[in-house]
Amino acid sequence: MLVLGVETSCDETAAAVVEDGRRVRADVVASQILVHAEFGGVVPEVASRQHTATIAPVLRRAVADAGVGFHDLDGIAVTCGPGLVGALLVGVETAKALAYALGKPLVGVNHLAGHLAAVFLEDPKPFATPGPPPFPHLALLVSGGHTALIRVDAPGKTRLVGSTRDDAAGEAFDKVGKMLGLGYPGGVVVDKLSATGDPSAHALPRALAGRDDLDFSFSGLKTAVRELLGGAPPPEGQALNDLCASFQAAVVDVLVRKSRRALVREGLSDLIVCGGVAANRGLRAGLAAAAAEDGFRLYIPSPKRCTDNASMIAAAGTQLLERGVRAPIDLGVDPGLPLNVGP
Ligand code: KG4
Ligand code: ZN
Repeated sequence: MLVLGVETSCDETAAAVVEDGRRVRADVVASQILVHAEFGGVVPEVASRQHTATIAPVLRRAVADAGVGFHDLDGIAVTCGPGLVGALLVGVETAKALAYALGKPLVGVNHLAGHLAAVFLEDPKPFATPGPPPFPHLALLVSGGHTALIRVDAPGKTRLVGSTRDDAAGEAFDKVGKMLGLGYPGGVVVDKLSATGDPSAHALPRALAGRDDLDFSFSGLKTAVRELLGGAPPPEGQALNDLCASFQAAVVDVLVRKSRRALVREGLSDLIVCGGVAANRGLRAGLAAAAAEDGFRLYIPSPKRCTDNASMIAAAGTQLLERGVRAPIDLGVDPGLPLNVGP
């Protein structure tokens, strides 16, 4: 089964061709980061315009890279929410037109379900247990818009067990990155600089860490970094690396602590990690150490399948198409689509 995935929920225009929900035949991501960096964040209207200009060549490239023609596809899967409304519309309207013209089945995919499905793609996974994770398992979803612990009983059958009360983990990385003059998005740069920094240089808060619940809060941490700077320009050199490492350690510490607690509470021994922040080296190492100590199995996709891409949408879409799910030709978008509702 050859499925075309289409993803335009935020600032990446992406298309991929995936075979049997596992083998990635083509994976094209056209990032708009450089365009938005000028504004210090994603500008929704600019994102929609960029998607409109890029979607057709990206689709053509994906099909060509896979060595197939559009008529060889068995189905089309498109992200229909959550995300930016104008950005989502570009992907959904294009996918509908394509499905109608080709006479192929279409399915709408929840972007978050896509992140959860990334781990089922065949990929070298340096930190991961071989093979796909069994059900039920626990998922730690950490992206620019979401931070959540989710119990996954089967594809599409999920229960939220913990989430952030304010900023998402990726949002905290990006806001602190901006404060430190590292541009947008700062997550990757903070990760890189942390590698040579001292994580114990600054004692930063671990919000809600001692509490019994499985929720997160990152806004206090961001404020603590701002107070530490005290209105002065950001530090440079080793001092900057130390501050990055101290901030990253505080985020990683809470994510690891709550994941361990959730595994015990839910009686699970398989943890998948997904979303852009799952690419973070500190988080990967922290979870690998916890897995070795506690004896749970860890599954993390390769970094490029953690950040937004269309192969994860094709993987989740294949699971739906196999179950006979089909989108109507008037499929709409839902910018606030929650994980458990809809496709
Ligand atoms: O999943 P994603 O690509 O988009 C959303 O659905 O939000 O996640 C993007 C987020 C951004 O906040 C970005 O800074 C963060 O993931 N990110 C990282 C790293 N790579 C991406 N954060 C920390 N370390 C990284 N290596
Ligand atoms: Zn995402």
